[in-house]
Amino acid sequence: MSLPALTLESAYEHLKKVNFTMCNLDVAGAKKKHGDALLWCNLGNPQGVGQKPITYNREVMAAVTLPSLIESEAISKTARARAAEINDCLPGHSSGAYPPTAGASVIREQIAEFITARDGFKAESGDVFMANGATEAVQNLMRLLVKQDGDSIMVPCPHFPLYTGYLQYIGATYASYQLDETKAWDVQEAELHRVYNEAIEQGHPPRGIVVINPNNPTGSVLSKESLTVLCRFAHAHGLPLVADEVYQRNIFEPEQRPFIAVLKIAQELAAQGECEGLQVISLHSASKGLSAECGRRGGYMHFHNIDKKLVSAFDDILSMGCPNIEGMVAMSAIVNPPREGDDAYDKYQEECGSLLSALVRKAKMVAEAFNSWEGMSCVQPAGAMYAYPKIEVPPKAVAAAAAEGIEGDALYVNELLDTVGVVVLPGSVFGQMPNTHHLRMTILPDEKELAVVLEKWAVFHKEFMAKYQ
Ligand SMILES: Cc1ncc(COP(=O)(O)O)c(C=O)c1O
Repeated sequence: MSLPALTLESAYEHLKKVNFTMCNLDVAGAKKKHGDALLWCNLGNPQGVGQKPITYNREVMAAVTLPSLIESEAISKTARARAAEINDCLPGHSSGAYPPTAGASVIREQIAEFITARDGFKAESGDVFMANGATEAVQNLMRLLVKQDGDSIMVPCPHFPLYTGYLQYIGATYASYQLDETKAWDVQEAELHRVYNEAIEQGHPPRGIVVINPNNPTGSVLSKESLTVLCRFAHAHGLPLVADEVYQRNIFEPEQRPFIAVLKIAQELAAQGECEGLQVISLHSASKGLSAECGRRGGYMHFHNIDKKLVSAFDDILSMGCPNIEGMVAMSAIVNPPREGDDAYDKYQEECGSLLSALVRKAKMVAEAFNSWEGMSCVQPAGAMYAYPKIEVPPKAVAAAAAEGIEGDALYVNELLDTVGVVVLPGSVFGQMPNTHHLRMTILPDEKELAVVLEKWAVFHKEFMAKYQ
């Protein structure tokens, strides 16, 4: 028999460059040692760590899938009416048919209405394209923005590594603009220019710029000033601005750090005669917010100021696949929640309210703990579902890590897992300033469990710092 033709060595060259190391911890080893006592704070997967689904969302999904429920008293009238409306617009009135490739028309209209109500500027359903999660939208967009091998996309540092991993996979690269940790992770204008010029000098012309707001991994929410700086910068350089806003519903300090959509800022500036024609592509997801339906794979992208001919050509590419129904319905439930007076309203408000208030308390709880430990500090998360504390890893630990061929934060994370069974991810996965070390943890476990995490972690932290003193 001849040798296998497809091996890692023979495979597509760029495959070997991809670095999407979200899960390279020795979890199997830790499971042997700690059994079921592992404390999961590593992935933004709320229902994976016990979060209950929102009843209304599941009712709409269930009734779209099983239309006899539309006639049943078992679920709310609100959900039954919404499910009937969705089913009516599907081919053959069935969730089992291939849906329109840009998404079900009724849901695209609901999304456009949601954007209009949120920003105060009219959005059109024809500019909305649904996707199998924001991930699929990001991949399609990166492919669209990059013209040739070696092009770059500007991404924030730290950032969610889907962007960088996928760019490496398609033969492109990225140019990281550093967010300022001393200013609640806001954007610095000079840094944008520095990174842009450097990318040009190095032969990696930027073709677009990404903003992630609220941010994964820092849990920060950008100020209006930061968003304005980004819009002006993108406009000045003719760069499409990709606004990843999948955490827009997870806002903990609405007075001090409200969520403001990039699209809103862009349109406000345009109304004043500034940044006219700025291209904004906004992303949303069914996986985050309070519904957290990660398994449904729902999301959308919204195009603003994008040439219709390009959109139509892109639509042709998208039509090679299609968004799945469950994900679309999950997205519909998010953008079209029960209104006051609907029978599902009170329960919906109560379920969402208690999830959000718990997140607010947990953000405070972790930041207070980290800021009280020696060698650790943390910008209190203002949104999303993560904290990104900074650790002063002692030089001896950095040297021990280097001897293993890993970063100091990876050593810390590995020892944390092995010693007390707390699972978090090292900052080196998400990017950080040279010679700084961070960790990303989720604040998703319930409050009792999070208290246990912090208690065990505090003991470990003290011992780690003493061990490498
Ligand atoms: C910033 C950001 N964008 C996009 C995604 C992908 O979301 P989805 O589950 O909709 O693919 C994630 C997932 O964690 C994320 O954190």
